[in-house]
Amino acid sequence: MHHFHYQHGEMFCEQVAVQNIAAQVGTPFYLYSHATLSHHFGVFDTAFAGIPHLVCFSAKSNSNLAILRIFINLGGGVDIVSGGELYRALQAGAHPGKIVYSGVGKRPEELRYALEQDILLFNIESTQELLALNQIAGQMGKPARIALRVNPDVDPQTHPYISTGLKRHKFGINVDRAVEDYRLAQQLSHLEVVGVDCHIGSQLTELEPFIEALRRVKELIGRLEQENIHIRYLDLGGGLGIQYDQETPPHPQEYGQAIREELQGMDCTLILEPGRVIVGNAGVLVTKVLYTKESEEKHFIIVDAAMNDLARPSLYGSYHAVQPVVEKTRPEIVASLVGPICESGDFLARDRLMPAFQPGELVALMSAGAYGFTMSSNYNSRPRLPEILVHQDEFYVIRERETYEHLIWGEQIPPFLAGPGR
Ligand code: LLP
Repeated sequence: MHHFHYQHGEMFCEQVAVQNIAAQVGTPFYLYSHATLSHHFGVFDTAFAGIPHLVCFSAKSNSNLAILRIFINLGGGVDIVSGGELYRALQAGAHPGKIVYSGVGKRPEELRYALEQDILLFNIESTQELLALNQIAGQMGKPARIALRVNPDVDPQTHPYISTGLKRHKFGINVDRAVEDYRLAQQLSHLEVVGVDCHIGSQLTELEPFIEALRRVKELIGRLEQENIHIRYLDLGGGLGIQYDQETPPHPQEYGQAIREELQGMDCTLILEPGRVIVGNAGVLVTKVLYTKESEEKHFIIVDAAMNDLARPSLYGSYHAVQPVVEKTRPEIVASLVGPICESGDFLARDRLMPAFQPGELVALMSAGAYGFTMSSNYNSRPRLPEILVHQDEFYVIRERETYEHLIWGEQIPPFLAGPGR
């Protein structure tokens, strides 16, 4: 369920007309619904009611401070993958005791920063990382709580770029070899072994791969018990998919139930790291049509947002529904929605049946709340977009539009180039 809907042919986000926001902040912009965000978090969290669990929202999907704060206020933790995300989580008010840190390439200074803050859990992805963290923890005189991220070798049946749980991927430690690393970890005096972690991929639309992965992790936990290594935290990562187009992903309630059944009799706290399922359908990208043009065989609708603002279509061939902000009676045409960037890969929707939009019209790209703004860049020196949060009948700018000054921040012309300029 989401709170983007039409009233008398006009798109609203909760009780605010999208057109009015565009008139005040200009286009393009990202727009999120507070009611949708908090509803999604609540539904997900409730799916695990009755068992000890912690929902750590995956900051990489949407790391705006205000968005993080919504989930923090609802009792959530944060899943981070960098020092930058740790900084954001703390600035947003997250309790360090609810922060988990994954990632194959954590730098020494990032490990130190996270240990200083005393985060809940480091999800370790290699033997060398294990040794590096132990050394840093020793220098700091502060033990680090760790889980090993294991790779259960399960095919998540999703886009190859966002599937992570197969042997050939760079993520985690092969589940069959993990016991050895656990033995090693147990001997390292500055580490406290407390968990097992896995994450097999993103935008999963079936339950089976999750359950299969969980079974393999359970087997591992059993083997570890025999070695007197007790697991207190089981981190299952994120990955539950959403509907962008015709997909029919399981409802979080079904996902929760399947996992709860599988966990029966186990004595550990479950950690989940959902991103997309919470924020994906809670956000849209609003853009304005600049021009239309027809070549011999194609219709192009040129808008003011581009691949630097929403990379998913060009990067993964992802589908985002295209909807008018104001409905009109008019023909539908097969067209491509493209941006101003100098690349043929710059499209937001390709060869799709859509209303024959006219210059000046506002268009919404739906389901853009996850991996939208966070993956945006300044390519072609385009300032990054503002982010707007609607709460009931008010809207708030939760990130301002960047200016040209932001674009050149930190750049310097060295003295040897000093000269007349023009
Ligand atoms: N935990 C870990 C360790 C992850 O690597 C990810 C996502 C998540 C949690 C959250 O997964 P989610 O619940 O959002 O599926 N940019 C791609 C998605 C990349 C996902 C990377 N890892 C996209 O736009 O589809």
